[in-house]
Amino acid sequence: MNDREQSLTQGNIVSFLGEIFERRGGGEYLGEPVTMAEHMLQGAAIAEAQGEPEEIIVAALLHDIGHFTSEFGTFRMDDTEDRFHEDAGAKVLERFFPKIVTDCVRFHVAAKRYLCATRAEYFDLLSAASVHSLMLQGGKMSPDESAMFEKNPNIEAIIKVRYLDDAGKDPEMDTPDFAHFAPMVQRVVDRHLPQQS
Ligand SMILES: [Fe+2]
Repeated sequence: MNDREQSLTQGNIVSFLGEIFERRGGGEYLGEPVTMAEHMLQGAAIAEAQGEPEEIIVAALLHDIGHFTSEFGTFRMDDTEDRFHEDAGAKVLERFFPKIVTDCVRFHVAAKRYLCATRAEYFDLLSAASVHSLMLQGGKMSPDESAMFEKNPNIEAIIKVRYLDDAGKDPEMDTPDFAHFAPMVQRVVDRHLPQQS
């Protein structure tokens, strides 16, 4: 953990995340026609419009935060392939967010592999870039892997966030910015952690 991560608290985690959106979110999103920030904001906005619980909206908002790997000190010069952004994101978030949120982040790639194995129509929904990364990520799950995956008590939430991930790639969609979601992110943190005096 780097110094910046060490200094994160219940009181500054939300502005830390907001700064990441602001400074880094304009970057390209892996060959999709939207930026990283647009992609995550779209997932969150769709979740909000569907009336999903705040934990789901926040998970969609933060699911790819681990792509900003240098923020989290996980980037290494000898990395050649998949940097397991889902783990990097979940690791920073788990100090502040409930397991339902971190499971949705940690397993959003696994959920793609699971859905490809278990729902015939799901594969057609994937963008070309997502199909490409699927190969790097291990392809569809085997029956044994799928059976294991189904044991996660948060599987419904994980799958829901995966569909929000796939939906958030629309170059025409307008969304609110991070500031709109910030109070909700703080509420999810505050419900999870004991209040600071
Ligand atoms: Fe994503």
